[in-house]
Amino acid sequence: AQTVARDADGVLTVGGITATRLAEEYGTPVYVLDEDDFRSRARAWRTAFGAGADVFYAGKAFLSRAVVRWLHEEGLNLDVCSGGELATALSAGMPAERIAFHGNNKSVDEITRAVEAGVGRIVLDSFQEIVRVAHVARSLGKRQKVQIRITVGVEAHTHEFIATAHEDQKFGIPLAGGQAAEAVRRALQLDGLELIGIHSHIGSQIFDMSGFEVAAHRVVGLLKDVRDEHGVELPEIDLGGGLGIAYTSDDDPREPHEIAKSLTEIVGRECEAARLRTPRISVEPGRAIVGPTAFTLYEVGTVKPLEGLRTYVSVDGGMSDNIRTALYDAEYSVALVSRTSDAEPMLARVVGKHCESGDIVVKDAFLPADLAPGDLVAVPATGAYCRSMASNYNHVLRPPVVAVKDGEARVIVRRETEEDLLRLDVG
Ligand code: LLP
Repeated sequence: AQTVARDADGVLTVGGITATRLAEEYGTPVYVLDEDDFRSRARAWRTAFGAGADVFYAGKAFLSRAVVRWLHEEGLNLDVCSGGELATALSAGMPAERIAFHGNNKSVDEITRAVEAGVGRIVLDSFQEIVRVAHVARSLGKRQKVQIRITVGVEAHTHEFIATAHEDQKFGIPLAGGQAAEAVRRALQLDGLELIGIHSHIGSQIFDMSGFEVAAHRVVGLLKDVRDEHGVELPEIDLGGGLGIAYTSDDDPREPHEIAKSLTEIVGRECEAARLRTPRISVEPGRAIVGPTAFTLYEVGTVKPLEGLRTYVSVDGGMSDNIRTALYDAEYSVALVSRTSDAEPMLARVVGKHCESGDIVVKDAFLPADLAPGDLVAVPATGAYCRSMASNYNHVLRPPVVAVKDGEARVIVRRETEEDLLRLDVG
């Protein structure tokens, strides 16, 4: 679905617009997002799961008002994890009942705003939060729909998962030791809460389906225990997000329909065996929808060959617009996009302009040896967790997001200005 190609001069075009024109009009660095690609990925998830399930786009991957409108139009729901994301969703007209509110430490103020707005569900993450949300809902005279997030003892990593007896991390309530069952017991007793289901999110950038399958198995196991103990069949389960995307050609991502088929089958089978009514399934993909839809366009500023080592190519952004390489050792590719070159490939490292040697965008890349200041390079697959994790380190200004569609480009998040920075500095 991606509308990226090269014209006769070797210049990258996206949605019918050349990279050079985008750079001229909007400056660099700039995130360029292909709206059709975003919509068709969103639609693919929606279609794969069908009317009997819900797809919640995980706003943490990238959220803006335009994105909220696209999601709304394509029939997706939205997962938010802060008051800021909630405000963005509501201000762009996402119906509150299609919003799920996540987080391991939501403030009372955030909970109050979510309950007042009428969000479709709050995902409870701790014993304290069960009481907190119940209290807020009661004081507002409401009964809030909630799910309980449990940790199923599956720890997912890139390309693999390992099963652990208990997970050593901050999210959710462990299934182990009967804690999740106790959480259900407490939630069922509180009249401010309507417990609608169980939630599990096992990790991110996952390629192996078996982690999801183990999670689904264990979540259904808990539903069965709940039925046996309380005579209540919880109507929903959410299996989280986490589907991996291709950052380099080594990655081989699963398609939404494969995931839908596998999860639906396993939940159906397990429920039948347990003689449970099959719950409504929901999922929360973020990266898999937005990640591949954008690339970052940078201008090369300096080219520094280090004898016997590699050539350092400095671009006009860096760890402030893409922290993932520095933070997770993430891998990206890069290409010269403003012209073609017949020059020999050289081993390069694409680095940013920050005062830090770990400020690396692409660790190892081959770029043409005649690369020179003024050339434009593009780093693909930066739609997820790049703009949303961008910072002002070194008081560098955060780049805009430009959406392209049918030969037209428009800014959906504008470039930050020095005025924006100085407005916050009131000392
Ligand atoms: N649902 C929940 C409850 C989550 O915590 C997350 C991601 C998602 C859904 C969406 O996961 P996705 O489909 O996007 O993998 N900053 C990291 C990723 C952090 C993910 C946090 N939770 C990165 O850049 O790789």
